[in-house]
Amino acid sequence: MKIDSIAVIGAGVMGSGIAAQIANAGKKVLLLDIVPEGAEDRSIIAQTALKKLLNTKPAALMHKRNAKNITPGNLEDNFNDLATVDWIIEVIVERLDLKQDLYKKIDAIRKPDCIISSNTSTLPLSDLTAGTSKDFSRHFLITHFFNPPRYMRLLEMVVGPDTQPKVVECLSHFCDYKLGKGVVKCHDTPGFIANRIGTYWIQTALLDAIRLKLTVDEADSLAGTPMGVPKTGIFGLMDLVGIDIMPYVLESMVHSLPKHDPFQEQAVIPDIVKKMITDGYIGRKGKGGFYRLSTLNGKKTKESINLITGEYAPHKQTTLESLKPSVKKDLRKLVSFDDKGGQFAWSVLSKTLCYSASLVPEISDNIESIDRAMKLGYNWKYGPFELLDKVGVDWFINKLNDNQQPIPPFLLAARGKTFYSFENEQALSLNLAGEYRPVEKHEGVLTLTDIKQSQRPIKSNSSASLWDIGDGVLCLEFHSKMNSIDPDILALIGSTVEVIPTNYKALVLYNEADNYSVGANIGLALFAANTAAWPQINQMVKSGQDTYKAMKYAPFPVVGAPSGMALGGGCESLLHCDAIQAHAESYLGLVEVGVGLIPSWGGCKELLTRWMLNPKRAKGPMPAISKAFELISTATVSSSAEEAKGHLFMRPTDGITMNRERLLFDAKHKALELVEGYLAPEEAEVSLPGSTARIALNLAVNNFVNTGKATPYDSTVADQLAMVLSGGDTDITELHTEDDLYALERQAFVTLIKNTNTLDRMQHTLETGKPLRN
Ligand code: NAI
Repeated sequence: MKIDSIAVIGAGVMGSGIAAQIANAGKKVLLLDIVPEGAEDRSIIAQTALKKLLNTKPAALMHKRNAKNITPGNLEDNFNDLATVDWIIEVIVERLDLKQDLYKKIDAIRKPDCIISSNTSTLPLSDLTAGTSKDFSRHFLITHFFNPPRYMRLLEMVVGPDTQPKVVECLSHFCDYKLGKGVVKCHDTPGFIANRIGTYWIQTALLDAIRLKLTVDEADSLAGTPMGVPKTGIFGLMDLVGIDIMPYVLESMVHSLPKHDPFQEQAVIPDIVKKMITDGYIGRKGKGGFYRLSTLNGKKTKESINLITGEYAPHKQTTLESLKPSVKKDLRKLVSFDDKGGQFAWSVLSKTLCYSASLVPEISDNIESIDRAMKLGYNWKYGPFELLDKVGVDWFINKLNDNQQPIPPFLLAARGKTFYSFENEQALSLNLAGEYRPVEKHEGVLTLTDIKQSQRPIKSNSSASLWDIGDGVLCLEFHSKMNSIDPDILALIGSTVEVIPTNYKALVLYNEADNYSVGANIGLALFAANTAAWPQINQMVKSGQDTYKAMKYAPFPVVGAPSGMALGGGCESLLHCDAIQAHAESYLGLVEVGVGLIPSWGGCKELLTRWMLNPKRAKGPMPAISKAFELISTATVSSSAEEAKGHLFMRPTDGITMNRERLLFDAKHKALELVEGYLAPEEAEVSLPGSTARIALNLAVNNFVNTGKATPYDSTVADQLAMVLSGGDTDITELHTEDDLYALERQAFVTLIKNTNTLDRMQHTLETGKPLRN
């Protein structure tokens, strides 16, 4: 079985998003919807959805050209086209009768071995297939995507008793490798895994925050970072998803879950929420939600709702002792703290973890599926069972006992143990009988998290570590704050470059943080500038250049493997690699102008030479110089790895991995492919036109200044960039080596950092903690 041609039926929120992700995978997809009564354009729904896809934020398409992979149509004129496709995904409104009716029609025309799946969130598979042919059931399953389908990594898959194993295998493989999803198999139960636990958790926090008279900000601070939940917290999440959706979700769960299920008690819509929905405060898509942005005294201010009075007010400093860093950093301390913050944290944590434990084996036979679903579907840092291991199973049971709370039998079976264990390089997980069994290993998945279970780093300092990832390949991991590049990281790269030739074959730059790196640590440069230590600053820049250069010309291959943001100095580290294997969701950019500087660890040099040596460029140096100038002066950040190739932050031959979990494995193999007969690249030499090009670039910037689109200070920064990219004081007859360009970068950097405006921008970035973007 193979999947080449695909059709999505239903071009609403989910259907169009799923079609976009299929298009991102480079596959053709037919997108069909009904013909609205009296419509002139009979495919208007799918046509409109396709137009919308080009403008959604965050972008559904990884590159605008991917829209060409989607063919819009309608269910009347294009129905017979379904007879040729390998996979049909039904994503229509959540109504059993309509879905069943559609399946009957599909069954009459589909080709043998065509797979059909539903994106239903609430309807049981057994109801969906009732009355369909045996062969239809053999090819049918539920594939539950999360919104937005491009960015949410979870795909819950429900397989029926008749579904053929080859169907499951073929579709799992496609969704994993091509669509980049973490496929988690679930039982056919309401809300599957993630929404069953996630909705319970949200409702518990909502009701407890109201009961304990906490503010929205306090509740989100308590239930956010300390419990490994994204900073948005629970109220922020409800605003994002849409508060108006909650009543429908709860109603469906209440209807389908047994009366004794603990979910029933939590499925209450508080009066304040009912009023918010009536008044249109349904979250970010409405007038606001638990949070809203208001303009107060001419300034945009974030306000939150008072859960008792319904009035909005700006954020106020909390007086809760439990929110002091010394308490909230330690989860055990936080949930034991005797104020209402501590009581809230314990209530939400204990109820959610007990509920999760009570759902084994109902929703899944194994705890790793549950943990994975919560991490991929709700962005939790730890799944419920990993959290239990973190706080300590016995400690948790004792506290439940002290509070006279019921203890689920599965928790008791884990007494004296941990839910996960590791033996002989094999991860184990506990089952209901209290026995360990191996956690399924997925071929082609390699993670540092797993490697760390059985290994110590070869070398390590406070900002980076070096790991042996097998087959003679090393992995250099950044772990400084926000993975900013500092002297410790540079030192480890430097010493690694010396170690490899005798003991190893290749190096991969990779880490498992949300962002590969947000840029260089500007705090150190700012400190030096404040003491006017110009020679030291020059040396600081040179040391970064020397390190990246040594890495580039080392006698072994280096592969960069980013995911998330790779900005400024982080992007420059990648530009010096022999190849990149990037996660599809990688955002690369040289954003230094955001702090009034220009890339000086070889970023200008690398981007310029790439554009100069690009075989497709127009004649003469100016098109290449202008392109590099445009990308750097506007701090362009590519919105995907695919787009990064268009910017030449990545080469056409660089690889893209759709599934984040497969990135390290793919990067390691990319490095190994380069090992045999490896020769370090030859140093590039370019001829640059000098002052004529600098004047031309400045003219363009001055036009922006004259029309108010740029400030005079922007033109100062742009002039230094123009100076470097045009080759400084030179003319076209002179050849520039890479060292010449490094020297120009240093000269420009030191000039700019002496400017007080630059220091102000750097200070601002440090204080707000925002990545180096304009
Ligand atoms: P939607 O309302 O945005 O889109 C539904 C589409 O189905 C509309 O374009 C409509 O014209 C079309 N449609 C209506 N009747 C039809 C029929 N008889 N035949 C063919 N098309 C028909 O809905 P949404 O949110 O995209 O949901 C679709 C499915 O995905 C539902 O089963 C829902 O439960 C599920 N789902 C929704 C999620 C969400 O966050 N919105 C998340 C995961 C699953």
